[in-house]
Amino acid sequence: MDDIVGLMGRDELVTDLVAEIKKGKHVILIGPVGIGKSAVLRAALDKLSGNLDWLIKLHDHQAKGQFVEMARQMLALDLITAKELELPAKFHGLPGSQVDWKEVKSQVNRMSMRDLTQAIIPALARSESKPVIAVDDLTSLTPTQMAFWLAIFDHAQVIGCASEKKARVRKLWWKMREIAVKPLPPDVIREIVKKYIAAKGILIESPDLYISHVVKQSVGVPQAIYDMLDESGKERIIDKRKVREMRHEAGISYLDFTPMVMILGALIVSMRYIGMGTGDKTLYIMGGMGAALFLTFRFFIFKGVGR
Ligand SMILES: Nc1ncnc2c1ncn2[C@@H]1O[C@H](COP(=O)(O)OP(=O)(O)O)[C@@H](O)[C@H]1O
Ligand SMILES: [Mg+2]
Repeated sequence: MDDIVGLMGRDELVTDLVAEIKKGKHVILIGPVGIGKSAVLRAALDKLSGNLDWLIKLHDHQAKGQFVEMARQMLALDLITAKELELPAKFHGLPGSQVDWKEVKSQVNRMSMRDLTQAIIPALARSESKPVIAVDDLTSLTPTQMAFWLAIFDHAQVIGCASEKKARVRKLWWKMREIAVKPLPPDVIREIVKKYIAAKGILIESPDLYISHVVKQSVGVPQAIYDMLDESGKERIIDKRKVREMRHEAGISYLDFTPMVMILGALIVSMRYIGMGTGDKTLYIMGGMGAALFLTFRFFIFKGVGR
């Protein structure tokens, strides 16, 4: 989305991150989903691109996918050999850049995580300068991944993102410099909204009212800002009534239906027992059917509320 307005209000943060990376520190960007961690990381890496000898970028969220991706990039950078990746003899001695990944992908995929780890770690340990590994998401790791990253930390510089601090990943955090990605301040949100509505040609009757609405509802999370802007982008004109409606809808979606649902469930179940106690068969049957229907519908009700 930053293709429409660019990365706004993060200059200082990007400068900080670049400085830490240049110092050789392991860094973790922390902040809730949608706050802009990936965008900041991308901007910092773009700024550094000329300065880093070896940069490995991982996007895959699956453990295996990450390892295979790492092997691919290390092969292309000649940090690991075809032999270490157990590729057929015809690839041995070939520069990594000339190995056609499509041809070898399935073979690397077939390696176990353990074999991949045992190939990757010594290869990283051997390289003269520490490669920088940017891994988009370090929020939740399997025990295998955890062991892998801990082993890698001495031989590579790891830059990652996480949306929360999970206890299981604590040992990694200890080794990393933490940089918090904070909500965007109102003046930056204002800029984003103005640029976006200008680019999309949305007409707004009362821009100030609209902007203050976005500032309030988004709580500074860029993804929330864009969700609202995209929604508005479907309209030609946003008048005051529309903004009021938006506020109304936002209010409803946060209403908690849980207590009402619980009380309804209790009523239906008690109907059955009252029917049983008083010998009222109709009540008993209706209570039973009601409970079955309730359980079926509850599934959908909760789905709706969670949205
Ligand atoms: N400072 C910013 N200015 C403009 N757009 C931004 C900014 N930060 C994030 N975005 C956009 O908001 C969306 C969510 O950001 P992202 O980096 O994916 O969040 P995260 O990685 O923290 O979940 C993306 O479309 C991104 O381009
Ligand atoms: Mg992200």
